[in-house]
Amino acid sequence: MPNRHTGPDRLIRLDGPHSTFVVDARGDGVPRCAYWGSSLPADTDLETFCDAQARPVPRNALDADTPPTLVPLAGFDRLGAPALSGSCADGRSVTALVLTHLTREADGVVLALDDAAAGLGLEVHVAIDPQTGVLSLRSALHNRGPHPYRLDWLAAGTLPLPLDAAEALVFDGQWNREFHERRIVLGQGIAGRENRRGRTSHDAFPGLIAGQAGFGETRGAVYGFHLGWSGNHRLAVETDVEGARLVQAGELPMPGEIVLESDERYDTPILYAAFSEHGLNGLSDAFHRFVRRRVLVWPNGVMAPRPVTFNSWEAVYFHHDLKTLSDLADVAAEVGAERFVLDDGWFGDRDDDTSSLGDWTPDHRKWPDGLTPLIDHVRGLGMSFGLWVEPEMVNPDSDLYRAHPDWALHADPLPRPTGRHQLVLDLTNPEAFAHIHVALDALLQHNRIDYLKWDMNRDLAPGTVSGRAAVGRQTRAVYALIDRLRADHPHVEIESCSSGGARADLGILSRTHRIWPSDCNDALERQTIQRGFSRFFPPELMGAHVGPPQSHTTGRRLTLAFRATTALFGHMGMELDLRTLDRAHRTELTGFITLHKRFRDLLHSGQRVYADDPDESRLTYGTVRPDAGEGLFCIAQLTTSAWRTPPTVRLPGLDPARTYRLTLPAPPPLGCPIGTPMHAALAEDGGVVLPGALLTRSGFQPPPLWPASALVMHAVATDAA
Ligand code: GLA
Repeated sequence: MPNRHTGPDRLIRLDGPHSTFVVDARGDGVPRCAYWGSSLPADTDLETFCDAQARPVPRNALDADTPPTLVPLAGFDRLGAPALSGSCADGRSVTALVLTHLTREADGVVLALDDAAAGLGLEVHVAIDPQTGVLSLRSALHNRGPHPYRLDWLAAGTLPLPLDAAEALVFDGQWNREFHERRIVLGQGIAGRENRRGRTSHDAFPGLIAGQAGFGETRGAVYGFHLGWSGNHRLAVETDVEGARLVQAGELPMPGEIVLESDERYDTPILYAAFSEHGLNGLSDAFHRFVRRRVLVWPNGVMAPRPVTFNSWEAVYFHHDLKTLSDLADVAAEVGAERFVLDDGWFGDRDDDTSSLGDWTPDHRKWPDGLTPLIDHVRGLGMSFGLWVEPEMVNPDSDLYRAHPDWALHADPLPRPTGRHQLVLDLTNPEAFAHIHVALDALLQHNRIDYLKWDMNRDLAPGTVSGRAAVGRQTRAVYALIDRLRADHPHVEIESCSSGGARADLGILSRTHRIWPSDCNDALERQTIQRGFSRFFPPELMGAHVGPPQSHTTGRRLTLAFRATTALFGHMGMELDLRTLDRAHRTELTGFITLHKRFRDLLHSGQRVYADDPDESRLTYGTVRPDAGEGLFCIAQLTTSAWRTPPTVRLPGLDPARTYRLTLPAPPPLGCPIGTPMHAALAEDGGVVLPGALLTRSGFQPPPLWPASALVMHAVATDAA
């Protein structure tokens, strides 16, 4: 068939501030991404540009070249991993799509593709956020045929990477150890991750960053990918022998999970992607600004200052009574808390984690007059009130389960494995959904609750209803439940927690306001966890608590200064029995909370930057104002150094052309000798004035630091002060 669409108007460029994405939709076939990378000049002749990339027909292969498209299809134009795979009830599994419509939108393009023989219609949406350059890709499949279509895989999007993006950062994790970065080399074949845990997961975070070999915080071209989805997923990079390297991500259906009846449609989650020419800092800046602008939905449309939070979990666990919690609230308010969160242990007959999930009324033994006396007390102290819930779960030992054992996910007659002594409620069942909705709605109606810590503490195993796969439907039901509650209680903020950081993704974040990155409050572990978390999520969403002196999850003892400095750079909070703090420690903690409030606006709206530090024993990072007029930095010494003299430190994000006054807004940590005239001056009120070129490029000599201690530094441009 002759090409009807060959003109330059079928070459579409989408521009971000530092990047360009070009779609070549000439011809009737599936359009392809002809370019994605640093900005092309405005006057680029796209036809010549795209034609220059036409590939020769390889020898001893099919007799026509089939360059990868935005929807590679198995067995037809690609012999690698397809973006769409499934089969029709009549046995057909080969799909050949033609482009039927192309719709330009303000910041993107919608491609409508058709396989008339199979009765399938596919939509591919590609959009760019012009302010940040973040791409959003999603797809939808419509079964227009008479037969059911079993969909095994539909990528939200497929994006090309250049072959010199030969190294990738992937994220490993487990409970207490989330967001750990691991470098891999990309060669031929597939690298990636499949998640079948039924939640975003600790171990297979749906994010990946690929870039030029040796890319770092401030150097190298890098591409970042994140799937906004809280269920099963696949995220993979495939490099074929023709030299094409493609990234795909999408919901991973279990066998038979998605069967589209005639006229039914399936919509993928969104794949987000960004490019930075200058390393990881540029990439996280794009994601952070995008999340702030386009993902988060705040009560009243704007983020109120993030309240310093007290959480009761590691303070009292399940041991609740009005007097204890009121006393804790008193000290929390005294040291500067602005929100008080009552964690697990307040409902049913819950003395430990073996019972009561599902029975969402206050435990009458612990709270004979309900939660109102505590809420009134907390509010009387000027704090807002938050409450822990785990709505998706049910303990077999609960009134709810005794009444409705059929409301749990199951594969009867196979066993029902419990996790943390609990089962998963089947929210795809309208009655179970309605019951939980009514219970939560009543809680919010009858108590002055500003915040829910929404927890989810086990994998979906089996993720089935009567043996039929249901993870995707369950995930969408959870989203619908949160959406419904938010619509009816728009002032309520929600934190996404899942045994720490097992539900951290932009799908849940488009309906929540904070993530609990880890149950590990050990500040030393947290430094690494928080860096990985910060690749995609901005610091104001990162719950960061000052934990007990001896960590409850690692047994390690750390100073209050180090614990507080570590929490300072996120959404700061506390999670320890404050009553046990002596006067000196209360004063010290108050000092750090005051410091956080002083810099909160900068920390929660600025650009998070990490330094390429030649010393692997420490992490140097900070937050700078977008105009670079100011920055707050931290040198966190994690272990002993290989170097007797600490290597020089650079402070990224500042302007090399300006001059800065560097001061220490918090006392230098224990064991930090004032070793040089500069250190002595730095510790004085006026600090030291240094050129930005020195701070950002050659670096300056920091003092030696003990392991598990940190130095906080404030830089203000002298022309801004
Ligand atoms: C999970 C959360 C913790 C705490 C407990 C309560 O483990 O991650 O922060 O809320 O549940 O049971």
